[in-house]
Amino acid sequence: MKQVDVVLGLQWGDEGKGKIVDVLSEKYPVVARFQGGPNAGHSIQFGNTSFVLHSVPSGVFREGTVNIIGNGVVFDPIIFREECTQLESLGVPVRERIVISKKAHLILPTHRTIDAASEASKGKSKIGSTLKGIGPTYMDKTGRNGLRIGDILSFDFPSRFEALKNKHIAYLKQFNFQYDPEANQEQWMEAIEYVKTFPIVDGEYYINSLIAEGKTVLAEGAQGSMLDVDFGSYPFVTSSTTTCSGACLGLGVAPSSIGNVFGIFKAYCTRVGSGPFPTELFDETGEKLRQAGHEFGATTGRPRRTGWLDIPALRYAVMLNGVTGLIMMKADVMDDFDTIKVAVGYNVGSEETDRVPYDTYAEVTPIYKEFKGWKKPLSGIRDEKELPTEFKDYIAFIEKSVGVPVKIISLGPDRDQTIVR
Ligand code: IMO
Ligand code: MG
Repeated sequence: MKQVDVVLGLQWGDEGKGKIVDVLSEKYPVVARFQGGPNAGHSIQFGNTSFVLHSVPSGVFREGTVNIIGNGVVFDPIIFREECTQLESLGVPVRERIVISKKAHLILPTHRTIDAASEASKGKSKIGSTLKGIGPTYMDKTGRNGLRIGDILSFDFPSRFEALKNKHIAYLKQFNFQYDPEANQEQWMEAIEYVKTFPIVDGEYYINSLIAEGKTVLAEGAQGSMLDVDFGSYPFVTSSTTTCSGACLGLGVAPSSIGNVFGIFKAYCTRVGSGPFPTELFDETGEKLRQAGHEFGATTGRPRRTGWLDIPALRYAVMLNGVTGLIMMKADVMDDFDTIKVAVGYNVGSEETDRVPYDTYAEVTPIYKEFKGWKKPLSGIRDEKELPTEFKDYIAFIEKSVGVPVKIISLGPDRDQTIVR
C-alpha cells in the first residue's frame, strides 16, 4: 500500500513548500517533517494571516491533522516554543495537532555556537549556514554523541546535557571564538519543560500504526535537492538527506510505502548562502526577480541570489527523487518580462554537457534557450484555460525537458491562488 506521498523542493530551498503542504494537507490526515530543522522557513498565507513555520509541519493550520516531527529532524526547543506560542495565540490547538518523535535530535545552545565558530573560521569559503546549529547537531548524531527528545524524560538528562556541553566547550577551544558557554541555557531548559507538555512518541511505531489504520501521510521536505548532503553541491549543502529517501529514513516508513512524489520548483531559481549557481544573474533582471519575488530569507532575512531556471539541475533532482508530479511556483513574478531564459545545458571548460558537474568549483557557463514573456498578470487566473499561450509554451517545454507533468501551478502566496491540472 502506497500511503506516503512526499512533497519536496527540487532546487536550493525556498521553493514554496509551506504553501503547497498547507494546500495539500486538506487531503491528508497526517503531515510529517522528516529532516532538517529550524534552518527551514516555510511560509503560509491565508486570508489576513501569514505565518512562517520553522520546525512545526505545515499541516498545523488544518483541523484534525496530525503533524509529526520525525526522527530525522533536528529540534531546537527554544524555537519550537516560540513558534507554538505564536500558533496558540492564533487559536491553533498545538498539543492536539503536533507529536514529536523520541528519536529526533536536540540542538543545544552550544551547537549553535559551534556553527558560528566554524563558519567564522572558514572566512571566504564559509557555507553561508543559517547558524541554527544544524550541521553540528547532525555531526553529533552520526558521531554518536547526540541527545534526543526521548532523553529529556530521563532522570539524568541534566547531567547528560552538561557532559555534551563540556565536549562542545573542549571542541570550541580550537577556534579563536569568543562566546558565553552559559548563553541561552536557562531559556533552553525552560523550553525543554514546555516540550514535555507535548506528546512525545515512538515516531516510527506511531506513523506505521496510522498507516495501518488506512491514513495517508504527506511527508514535508525542507531545504531542496540541490542542498542534499550527498547530491548537492558539496560542501555548500545542508547536513541532511533532503531527497526522497530521506522521508523513509527520517520517519521510519518503508520505501515501498512511498506513492506520489511532488517536486516543487520555482519558475526561476534562487539560492541563499554560498556555492555554485550557474544561472545566477548579477544584473537588473536579477534584482527585478528579487524585488518582485520578495526573495529575502524567511529564516535569516538575507537577500537571496536569483537567476534563470536551470533545466539540467531540475532534471537531476527529478531523477534523484523519482518525481511523479511537478508543482510550479511563482511564475507570476515574471509577468512583465519581455523575454525569459532557461538553461538547457552547460559549457564546462571545453565540454558541453546536460549533467550537473561533480566539480563544485568548475567554471560553468549555461547554454540558454529564450522564451517570449507572456506580459499578462497571472495571479488572478484560477482557470487553466485562461492561461496565456506563451506561459503554456513555457510549461510544456519544462515538462518535455524533464519528462514529468506539471500538476499544480501556484500563482501567488494565498491558498486559493492555485491551479490544479
Ligand atoms: P527551506 O526549508 C534555503 C542553506 C543555507 C546554506 C546551506 C547550509 O526554507 O527551503 P544550514 O543552516 O543548513 O547549515 O545551511 O543551506 N539553507 C537553506 N536555503 N531554504 C532553506 O530551507 C534552507 N536551509 C538551509 O542558506 O547555504
Ligand atoms: Mg527558506
